[in-house]
Parts: sequence; C-alpha cells; structure tokens
Amino acid sequence: MSEINYDGKVAIITGAGAGLGKTYALEFAKRGAKVVVNDLGGSRDGSGADTRAADQVVDEIKAAGGEAAPNYDSVATKEGGENIVKTAVDNFGKVDIIVNNAGILRDKSIVKMSKDEWDLVLAVHLNGAFFVTQPAFKLMKENAYGRIINTASGAGLYGNFGQANYAAAKMGLVGLMHSVHTEGAKYNIKCNTIAPIAASRLTEDVMPPEIFTKLDPKFVTPLVLFLASEENQDSGMIFNCAAGWFSRSAIMCGTGTFIGDGQRDIAVEEVRDAWNQVTSLDDIKVLNNVNDSFGYLAKLFQ
Ligand code: NAI
Repeated sequence: MSEINYDGKVAIITGAGAGLGKTYALEFAKRGAKVVVNDLGGSRDGSGADTRAADQVVDEIKAAGGEAAPNYDSVATKEGGENIVKTAVDNFGKVDIIVNNAGILRDKSIVKMSKDEWDLVLAVHLNGAFFVTQPAFKLMKENAYGRIINTASGAGLYGNFGQANYAAAKMGLVGLMHSVHTEGAKYNIKCNTIAPIAASRLTEDVMPPEIFTKLDPKFVTPLVLFLASEENQDSGMIFNCAAGWFSRSAIMCGTGTFIGDGQRDIAVEEVRDAWNQVTSLDDIKVLNNVNDSFGYLAKLFQ
C-alpha cells in the first residue's frame, strides 16, 4: 500500500483542541503536515475561552517531532477567521488544507429557542466556515491547490428533534460547499462535506453508553485525511462516517412530471392529481449544479 503523506502541506484545523479536530491535527502532523491548531477553548455551549485547549495539542504534536502553531481565535468573527489564516501564513507561508470543524450546541425545541441560541450556533458553524474559508480561498487560488472539508451532521441532512439552529447551520455548510466546489474547480480546489458520528463531549449525553464507547473519533480521521490528500480528485460530495462505516449521501433530483405548456395557468387540482409523479424518486439523479435542473424544462424548448 503506497502511503499518503502531507509533506510540505499546511493544514488549518478549526476546533482542534478536542474531539474530532484533535485526532485530525495529530494525524496530519504525524504524516508530515504543518498544522495550525485553532481552538477557542470554550465550553460545549460556546461560552468561555481557554488557550490551553490549542496549546496542549500543539505540545503533543511537537513532542512527537511534528510542526504546529496554536491559534486561539473564535471562528465566529471575520477578524478571527482572518487571524487564523494569518497564523498559517506567518508560521508556514501558505494554506493547503482547511478542516472547518469547530462547533458548539445550544439545543432547544423550536418554540423555546431564543434568538441568541439561533444566532450563536449559526455564527460558529456557518459563519465560522465562511470566515476561515474566504481568506484562505484567495491564497489557494494563487497556489492553484486547496482541499477544504466542511463538517455537517446527520441532524442537518436527515433531521433531529431540538436542533433547528444546528440543523440549519449544518445544511448551510452543504450549500457553502457547493459554491466553493464550483468556484474552486478550475484552481484544483476541492471541497467536500462530512457528516460524522463520534464520541465527544457534544454527544456524551445523547447516546447510550454501549454505543458511545464504539464511536471513537479516530474512525472518522482517515476519511478526512483522504479527502484532504492530493490523491483525492472528488469534490462537492457529502460523506457519512462513524465507527468504520463510510458512505456517500447526495441531494438528488427526481424526474417528476411536466404540467401545462409554459403559458397556460396550472390549477391546484392538477398538482394534486399528479402528486404521485411529483413525489416519485424513480430515476433520481445527482445534479452537478443548478444549471442542470434546466434540463428538466427541455420539453418547453422543443
Ligand atoms: P468537541 O466539542 O469535542 O470539539 C469541538 C471543538 O470546537 C472544541 O474544542 C471547541 O472548543 C471548539 N470550538 C467551539 N467553538 C469554537 C469557536 N467559535 N472557534 C474555535 N473553536 C471553537 O466536538 P466534536 O464532537 O469533536 O465536534 C466536531 C465537529 O463535528 C462539530 O462541528 C460538530 O458539530 C460536528 N459533529 C460531531 C458529531 C459527533 O457525533 N461528535 C456529529 C455530527 C457533527
């Protein structure tokens, strides 16, 4: 088996002081990458800050002979994102890899969710990924190389009770991926999204202990590292991963049906009567971008 390494590559991992991010940072460094270990060091709900979270991981990498620099900024501000990228440039001269991983939880049912709970979760997960990716993308474009991994969640892809803020942010990251993938295509910038399941402080009280103990974050790490490698040529894809299970999810489009002729009005009853065809998932396809959906209107232009 030929080994994958990251010699000469610079990786930014956000939220790398604990959980999944920490495993990525250690493995990237072990395989030759220079790593920016970003972590605010706050609590699970996003309050507080502590520089020790990032420092401990940097110390561990250096003790093992690797190269790393800490960054303590929050991803949730534009200045924070710029400073994280600046940390990479000041210490290692460039950015090749970003793992947008930092995350918090403020779970509430939708009726009880406050504006602050909504705003903060969107700010960390969604704005955070934008604030880090945007300044790095400019550099990646100049170098014609980039590998970006966003972290979504099954809660966003498939739904979960009490996580309207988190689910919306996580699906927002899928939308961000699609644009970064499309805009990065001609510069060899690949962007993919993962939906992991792993034992961490975010999940310790939501999973039964017998399941929790089988979900070591280290099982997600190989997928992230592969997506971040030069060998990976895929982009714009979503992957599930947990405990050694790896699979792809995709947003698909059904063939549906065509009512009317693009000129006459369409009655509500016509939609009702065609409902089985409208909702059918027969012949579903992954579309490469929004323009592909115009293919379904071909009948209009015949
Ligand atoms: P974790 O809580 O162990 O790690 C998240 C890290 O992000 C923490 O070290 C925290 O200090 C840091 N962080 C939080 N806000 C930050 C900010 N504003 N700026 C910089 N750093 C910040 O959680 P875990 O489980 O490792 O989660 C990592 C990512 O994976 C998150 O985006 C989470 O939503 C996602 N995820 C995790 C799942 C799981 O089963 N553990 C399931 C689905 C998604």
